[in-house]
Amino acid sequence: MSENARLINGEQEIEFPLIIGSEQEVGLDISKLRAQTGMITLDEGFVNTGSTRSAITFLNGEQGILRYCGYAIEDIADKCDFIESAYLLLNGELPNSEQLSEFRSAIISEMDIPEGLINIITSFPKDAHPMAVLSAAVNALSTYYQDQVDPLDCGQVKSSIRRLIATLPTIAAYSHRHATGQKLITPCPELGYVENFLRMMLADEDGNYEADPDFVDALNLLLIVHADHEQNCSTSTVRMVGSANTNVYASIAAGICALWGPLHGGANEACVNMLKQIAADDGDVEKYVDMAKDKASSFRLMGFGHRVYKNYDPRARIFKKACDELLEKLDTDDPLFLIAQKLERVALEDEYFVARKLYPNVDFYSGVIYRAIGIPVEMFTVLFAMGRLPGWIAHWQEMHASPSKRICRPRQVYTGPNGRELPEISERS
Ligand code: ACO
Repeated sequence: MSENARLINGEQEIEFPLIIGSEQEVGLDISKLRAQTGMITLDEGFVNTGSTRSAITFLNGEQGILRYCGYAIEDIADKCDFIESAYLLLNGELPNSEQLSEFRSAIISEMDIPEGLINIITSFPKDAHPMAVLSAAVNALSTYYQDQVDPLDCGQVKSSIRRLIATLPTIAAYSHRHATGQKLITPCPELGYVENFLRMMLADEDGNYEADPDFVDALNLLLIVHADHEQNCSTSTVRMVGSANTNVYASIAAGICALWGPLHGGANEACVNMLKQIAADDGDVEKYVDMAKDKASSFRLMGFGHRVYKNYDPRARIFKKACDELLEKLDTDDPLFLIAQKLERVALEDEYFVARKLYPNVDFYSGVIYRAIGIPVEMFTVLFAMGRLPGWIAHWQEMHASPSKRICRPRQVYTGPNGRELPEISERS
């Protein structure tokens, strides 16, 4: 392959360097385009636009490959827990046992949140969506540590990062217990990260909760598999906001808001609601597949399709297997799992879905696992945020460490009116 690509526009001929990634992906470096030609690129939805070079996650949508720092997601899911995966994403290398134990204890010891923040969380309306509470609480968390919000101070950033990972489960669980009128259960330093979260969420009023090891494993798996997915909508949001030298709390709060949308992380909640609706409609899967194909209807199959995966999402495959195993161990049939499997079968044989390469995505089976564990549906996207947090932070850090970091500021092709005379109010129709 040549080192440059040539653009010919009329008389003008310009060369642009080709940037080759470590997996032989090719990027056309157009950073000098405007300076040399006065033109910009137009790529709505950023379908063809690489916003950065990144060494964190590799994914190949055609082949269904996902790796964190070079390690296959299947191997990480098999051999690591969530805290270990978080360390990997944040540091680029797996921890040795000493590093892991230091990181784990630092996180567990910081899971309590300030009293004032508890008051903020418990002053929200009980029916507030927990993603709104989560985003507001993460932003509010920074107000208790105002001497630690300088994004350019490595020491301050390090403690803020640990605090965010430590407190997100506590914020999430407290918002759930407040919404359901239950007493708050404080974190327990003797328990692990996932066990703590499950106990804070699901314990009785006296704090009694016996974590089923299968639930702990399943939740670890869910968090690991969600932990990063390169330049998705919420991660790009975190990078975009952080590029203004915004502190890490505010950047993560923005990422949480982006994740909330039903076309992104909110699809897990929307997917289970859709499966429930199909179940209530006599399990008529074909009717919903037809609706999704009907261009006159805005209905889409939630949990289907992906901007990058044009093959089976490897994360959906991991979750489907975990669903199967968990339900078998629990010896229960979740009707929604049966509907999900049927929906997948019908859709994958349908010409509409085949032609558009629409496969189940990460959100398709995750909800069935959350249900089996006892997590309420409105908390699903919050769990996604807990999982994605290390990925967001890793990207935020990588962006700040990059020598080529600049504020993110896309351009536009203006299509509005040309210069107009401003009429007096009396002359306006
Ligand atoms: N159901 C029915 N049709 C679909 C679906 C779907 N779930 N997804 C895409 N299509 C169709 C579109 O109508 C379009 O058809 P056309 O070419 O005839 O116009 C074609 O497939 C391409 O779809 P786009 O919307 O252009 O694809 P895009 O890459 O912009 O969107 C997205 C990807 C948002 C994920 C989309 O597939 C979707 O809305 N899926 C449902 C929501 C969902 O599950 N989101 C979670 C994604 S994973 C994550 O973010 C964690």
